[in-house]
Amino acid sequence: MSEELTTAAELFDAIGAGYEDAFGRPPVVDAAVRELLAVLPPSARVLDVGSGTGRPVAADLVAAGHRVTGIDVSAEMVRIAREQVPGAEFVQADVREWESEPGTWDAVCAFFPFLQLPRAETERALGRIAGWLASGGRFALITVPADVEDVPVDFLGHSIRVTSFPADALADRVRAAGLEVTGTRTETFAPDKPGAEPEEHLLISARKPG
Ligand SMILES: C[S@@+](CC[C@H](N)C(=O)[O-])C[C@H]1O[C@@H](n2cnc3c(N)ncnc32)[C@H](O)[C@@H]1O
Repeated sequence: MSEELTTAAELFDAIGAGYEDAFGRPPVVDAAVRELLAVLPPSARVLDVGSGTGRPVAADLVAAGHRVTGIDVSAEMVRIAREQVPGAEFVQADVREWESEPGTWDAVCAFFPFLQLPRAETERALGRIAGWLASGGRFALITVPADVEDVPVDFLGHSIRVTSFPADALADRVRAAGLEVTGTRTETFAPDKPGAEPEEHLLISARKPG
């Protein structure tokens, strides 16, 4: 095990393409993208927070004709995503600091970007995302639900600390941000990597009223 990596940028700069090799297309991610594709208007503006390697999420949305911007705090992930999905725009940015015009996105995806944030910062990020969405816009949030704060875990050969919420508490935080929760789904997923433990994935689908 390597020494502890304290920030998401350090962790995902170190993992790079290895993330896609191990995680590929988890069923809950696939379900979330299919849900969005079924409801989005043509050429929708979609923001992918924590866009990783750009695959499968940005790639699928671009292939369906949507205008996708991905933000990710890891320079290496942004480099890979730009190479793999030239039809989307990728920006190296932290969701806690990135600025967007309010009310401009038809959908925002956030698939696993909050696991290294303190709970209060996730709550604040949810509020920012709700502000960025257009009225009627969709929000899809995926995480590993758990009642943990700053606990050490091994992740793809790296030692990190993670924070999350139990499923009901996270749905309450999404509502507190001003969004209407339209559905949830959970599934157990085993990464394709020797020694990687199966983990639970939670999708919270939500909508901005209006
Ligand atoms: C577990 S990966 C998932 C990537 C992609 N969403 C997917 O599902 O394939 C989480 C991604 O979120 C990014 N991330 C973590 N914290 C972030 C933050 N505060 N702002 C923006 N991106 C962040 C990481 O760099 C990483 O690429």
